[in-house]
Amino acid sequence: YRNLRVALLGAGSVGSQVARLLLEQGDEFASRVGARLELVGIAVRDVDAPRDVDLPRELFTTDATSLILGADIVVELMGGIEPARGYVLEALNSGADVITANKALLATHGPELFEAAEQVGAQLYYEAAVAGAIPIIRPLRDSLAGDTVSRILGIVNGTTNFILDRMDATGETLADALATATHRGYAEADPTADIGGYDAAQKAAILASLAFHTTVPLEQVYREGITAITREQVESAREAGSVIKLLAICERLTDPETGEEGVSARVYPALISREHPLAAVRGAHNAVFVQAEAAGDLMFYGAGAGGVETASAVLGDVVSAARRHVVGGPGVAESTHAGLPVLDIGRVVTRY
Ligand code: HSE
Repeated sequence: YRNLRVALLGAGSVGSQVARLLLEQGDEFASRVGARLELVGIAVRDVDAPRDVDLPRELFTTDATSLILGADIVVELMGGIEPARGYVLEALNSGADVITANKALLATHGPELFEAAEQVGAQLYYEAAVAGAIPIIRPLRDSLAGDTVSRILGIVNGTTNFILDRMDATGETLADALATATHRGYAEADPTADIGGYDAAQKAAILASLAFHTTVPLEQVYREGITAITREQVESAREAGSVIKLLAICERLTDPETGEEGVSARVYPALISREHPLAAVRGAHNAVFVQAEAAGDLMFYGAGAGGVETASAVLGDVVSAARRHVVGGPGVAESTHAGLPVLDIGRVVTRY
């Protein structure tokens, strides 16, 4: 196998899991890609900071630029706008493919980054930027590319779903539920991003841009958070057969006054019927309900936050990027054979 050099920027809860899995599953990835994915280094601010995972010390560096310039694939998991934006541009301009989970960066500087990638024929992947482990970017970009998406209703912030769920199920206060969400690692470093709806608004901008083949700037996403939601409101929603969820709503609309056709992206606590599939999304889980003209209703569900869960989406992008570099390597269909035998065991479990 030839080597593809992978540089990692950031070693937080997602980054450290990405590094661990790249190191532990090297042989498996090599057989899927047709090239060895070599983790050449991890750029961090502080080499000695405590990490979730024990990783070889020699991989760490504070010199992100040198690392980027020696890489085929750059994985940006630092978060925040700067210096992440500068590093992503450096990587793209050097011709490297970039994988990012940075929703704030994409929602504010997406067009600039996509333009930079196009200039040099590099690719920018961001499956992990919206709804953690849930595959939603590829389905919207690829699987539904031949359809017309009319509406997306998304529960795209795990922290607020967890809080609203606890208020509903146990009568807990918002502050207590937030403390638990922070303790479990769901919340952003500044949880205002979660409860204020900013995190969901960034994701709504990304989803709406992709689904409607346009650019929806973050400033044009209407936003309300959940900070004003009371236990009484949660209670009366329940009595009415509904539940309050923080929804990211992306729609094609006709302006009722002007008749002008356009799109809208909005985030606010909304009432949904207990019968709706989104009402069944409990705890910190996320779900994205997509309505498309030909496909009808689709729902994507799973873990929207968490280090190892989000690492799954990042690594899917790493494998996709790596496959692009390997001409004549295993195609998608024939790349999964690890030589495992098919077991003839008939019917084992009858209830799932
Ligand atoms: N703070 C985010 C959430 C993490 O709670 O969903 C994933 O973007």
